[in-house]
Amino acid sequence: MESLKKLFQPVHEKVDETWSKVTIVGVGQVGMAAAFSMLTQNVTNNIALVDMMADKLKGEMMDLQHGSAFMRNAKIQSSTDYSITAGSKICVVTAGVRQREGESRLDLVQRNTDVLKQIIPQLIKYSPDTILVIASNPVDILTYVTWKISGLPKHRVIGSGTNLDSARFRYLLSDRLGIATTSCHGYIIGEHGDSSVPVWSAVNIAGVRLSDLNNQIGTDDDPENWKELHENVVKSAYEVIKLKGYTSWAIGLSLAQIVRAILTNANSVHAVSTYLKGEHGIEDEVFLSLPCVLSHCGVSDVIRQPLTELEVAQLRKSAKVMAKVQNNIKF
Ligand code: NAI
Ligand code: LAC
Repeated sequence: MESLKKLFQPVHEKVDETWSKVTIVGVGQVGMAAAFSMLTQNVTNNIALVDMMADKLKGEMMDLQHGSAFMRNAKIQSSTDYSITAGSKICVVTAGVRQREGESRLDLVQRNTDVLKQIIPQLIKYSPDTILVIASNPVDILTYVTWKISGLPKHRVIGSGTNLDSARFRYLLSDRLGIATTSCHGYIIGEHGDSSVPVWSAVNIAGVRLSDLNNQIGTDDDPENWKELHENVVKSAYEVIKLKGYTSWAIGLSLAQIVRAILTNANSVHAVSTYLKGEHGIEDEVFLSLPCVLSHCGVSDVIRQPLTELEVAQLRKSAKVMAKVQNNIKF
């Protein structure tokens, strides 16, 4: 193009463009909420989208591309061919079926295992050094399935886990206390779902533990009924699904936070689903959520929170449920 020679004075060829490349598989409600969150929060400006529905995939890509003037030089590409994912630092998997009203997350296990059997080998083929972040449900079981299928080391296979449950919990604390969610600290651990475990002993505002102010907090005898907050966390997804058919924005933001922590080598702590055999007396090879340190390598450390006997028992019970479901999976 002769005219452009008057515009450009070449100095050096452009550098490797896969520095912070993120692949998102599944351009449904969760995948697109995650993509939009990552692009508008400047988590990455290099996204590859994959899905099996070619028209929806191209439409979502084009719609995001048309917003480029409002973003920071984003490179947004898509294809049904996994070669588009080559060199991804992180691959986020949101593909699969979601629960319908009346279904639990665990009801999805075999259908979504079959989906992962198609996806994971392709991602590893083109990005053998990638970190896999799983959102598809049941996320703890599917993170285990991904670990088995991929053959990746456990620190590079992460489930979004109870990062979302903890965010919901912190919102409800904020709503009751009238303090910003970002200043309300608390963790939900274990299964992302019906058997999640609130760590009441760790709930604090500026280091003031609520359990020091109310030693019955979270128990059935608590006159202030704080356990209602965790009950509402467990009900959250079912309520939103009943109202709008799916959940998306909070999980999209949760995935963006996890991806940012890894890409920026933040060493920040997030409740994500990780390999827990040996933690808190768990004997099975299961993935459940504990507070983890996230960095360039993926999960660099698992935080060993002091848990009450009840919290440990609940965590171990969750682990047994996961192991039982895993034993019935057809790989
Ligand atoms: P959706 O139906 O809107 O999108 C799923 C996408 O996956 C569709 O575009 C579909 O074409 C694609 N897909 C299905 N099979 C595929 C395959 N073999 N290869 C490539 N693409 C494939 O569903 P939504 O609402 O986005 O939910 C996705 C998953 O995320 C569900 O399993 C849902 O339960 C889960 N989820 C997990 C949350 C968490 O906290 N971990 C929160 C919310 C949803
Ligand atoms: C949630 C379900 C869908 O939003 O996993 O928590």
